[in-house]
Amino acid sequence: MVQYFRYHQLKKGEHHHAGEDEMLSLMSATSSGYFKRSRPKLFSLLILSLLSCCLILGSHLFCSPSAFSLLYSFGVEGDGVAANVNAKASLCSSISNGTMCCDRSSIRSDVCVMKGDVRTNSASSSIFLYTSKSTDAVIKNVSSLVDKDELQHERVKPYTRKWETSVMDTIDELDLIVKTENFRNNHHCDVKHDVPAVFFSTGGYTGNVYHEFNDGLLPLYITSQHFKKKVVFVILEYHDWWIMKYGDILSHLTDYPAIDFSGDKRTHCFPEAVVGLRIHDELTVDPSLMQGNKSVVDFRNVLDRAYLPRVQSLLKEEERLAQEKLKQKVHSSSSEIRKEVQDATLKRPKLVILSRNGSRAITNEDLLVKMAEEIGFRVEVVRPERTTELARIYGALNSSEVMIGVHGAAMTHFLFMRPGSVFIQVIPLGTEWAADAYYGEPARKLGLKYVGYQILPRESSLYDKYDRNDPVLRDPESVSEKGWQYTKSIYLDNQNVRLNLGRFHKRLLRAYSYTIAKMNRRSHL
Ligand SMILES: *[C@@H]1O[C@H](CO)[C@@H](O)[C@H](O)[C@H]1NC(C)=O
Ligand SMILES: *[C@@H]1O[C@H](CO)[C@@H](O)[C@H](O)[C@H]1NC(C)=O
Ligand SMILES: *[C@@H]1O[C@H](CO)[C@@H](O)[C@H](O)[C@H]1NC(C)=O
Ligand SMILES: *[C@@H]1O[C@H](CO)[C@@H](O)[C@H](O)[C@H]1NC(C)=O
Ligand SMILES: *[C@@H]1O[C@H](CO)[C@@H](O)[C@H](O)[C@H]1NC(C)=O
Repeated sequence: MVQYFRYHQLKKGEHHHAGEDEMLSLMSATSSGYFKRSRPKLFSLLILSLLSCCLILGSHLFCSPSAFSLLYSFGVEGDGVAANVNAKASLCSSISNGTMCCDRSSIRSDVCVMKGDVRTNSASSSIFLYTSKSTDAVIKNVSSLVDKDELQHERVKPYTRKWETSVMDTIDELDLIVKTENFRNNHHCDVKHDVPAVFFSTGGYTGNVYHEFNDGLLPLYITSQHFKKKVVFVILEYHDWWIMKYGDILSHLTDYPAIDFSGDKRTHCFPEAVVGLRIHDELTVDPSLMQGNKSVVDFRNVLDRAYLPRVQSLLKEEERLAQEKLKQKVHSSSSEIRKEVQDATLKRPKLVILSRNGSRAITNEDLLVKMAEEIGFRVEVVRPERTTELARIYGALNSSEVMIGVHGAAMTHFLFMRPGSVFIQVIPLGTEWAADAYYGEPARKLGLKYVGYQILPRESSLYDKYDRNDPVLRDPESVSEKGWQYTKSIYLDNQNVRLNLGRFHKRLLRAYSYTIAKMNRRSHL
């Protein structure tokens, strides 16, 4: 509650277009202890959120100073996000027929539930609930805006970045209106569904894999899994490509085709509607807030079932190609064949390098591959691109024991690793907090062995560009404090990593021993 209060103080600052300095003083005035602890978070939150939105939407709108301050305000809230959502019996989880209830207690999203005779009207971006309940029982708060025929009226933007007004401005708002059943005769059902609907948006930052999982699929799982697929998804800012890309997963969350809310003008009628998605924390599912203690491992199990058929057909294709190659290779060198035979028979543990190109690339990746092979790994380099089929990436990671990658949105794929395997995140200068909060901590929650490899200044390409006493190398935090644009242009967009292989070797060897021990344990069971 304290943190919630603090958030409102900050919101006040926003309206006055407070700059970052004002934000900082406001925070330190509220609680210097909290300020200290949360400060690094703030910058990193900025890094991630702004990076993604600048990249995806390429709009200066999202890179503006006001967006900066909004993100700031969220950073303060960081620790309070989960705390604000109370226990399993969350607000509105059991309401009586003919009523509507909105839970606006979370800093990340609003969720409204309507139960009874629910009918859509996409032309006016509205959802109506017709009720026989007497007005007294229903009216909770009559504002001056409310039409006298309306018993209750709420507005919701069904997207999970409520604190980030710049992106929320791009999300369609829905009007949720409760009326007495006398009015329903003018509003005929074109399609009658006998299962509940979940309304959400695939706009905003959709297009970036981190946001697609963090603000889309995980919240969708959290909000809808208890319906056991007896649920219809009604989507705002609907994209065909999104339905295609995530079709495998969607078909494991619902038995019904999705509805494009603004594209489908028919009146859809439901016995219940959940408008907006619940979200717990970064890339995770908090079992204490779920029915049946469902966790992020259960979410991953959904992914596994979803990708199994496609992964198997890809494997078959690969085997066929390998056999053809082998046939052609009758005359190839015996050492090559020996190596292939070794790979197949010794079952060397697999290591995947999620490779970036452009900024934050590993410039000595070739040597890293060689070193990992010498240690005893079978190495696969995966370069995820926007068009890369997710089942392919899933197949590569699900069959590997170790994943290495440099901090960035592609680290979201740690969700594809089997619990108990190793995730080594290479952390460039100036990205330490974000690396841990967005990927390190969620990876631990999935049960991965997480290793954060914080690079030394010498391993950064910035080492050649700046004097070694320059704050850019010595004190990245102080540079980030100067403003988002510094973080972005110095640390995110223009930094590569040249791994100190001697130093990295130790981590890799440890990962190898751990993996071998685990494999031996498994074979002795
Ligand atoms: C809920 O109310 C609607 C009308 O208000 C009615 O048609 C429906 O049968 C009710 N459902 C239940 C489960 O009582
Ligand atoms: C009623 O609504 C108004 C504006 O919509 C709001 O300012 C007020 O706090 C609400 N009152 C209660 C008791 O929820
Ligand atoms: C969920 O976890 C709690 C506490 O760990 C435990 O008491 C409860 O039995 C669990 N429920 C289920 C359905 O597993
Ligand atoms: C992932 O790996 C596990 C363990 O090897 C296997 O049982 C499962 O079928 C794999 N999933 C997919 C989609 O390939
Ligand atoms: C990055 O990837 C693109 C497309 O795969 C390729 O054309 C380009 O050469 C790569 N750049 C570097 C520096 O490797």
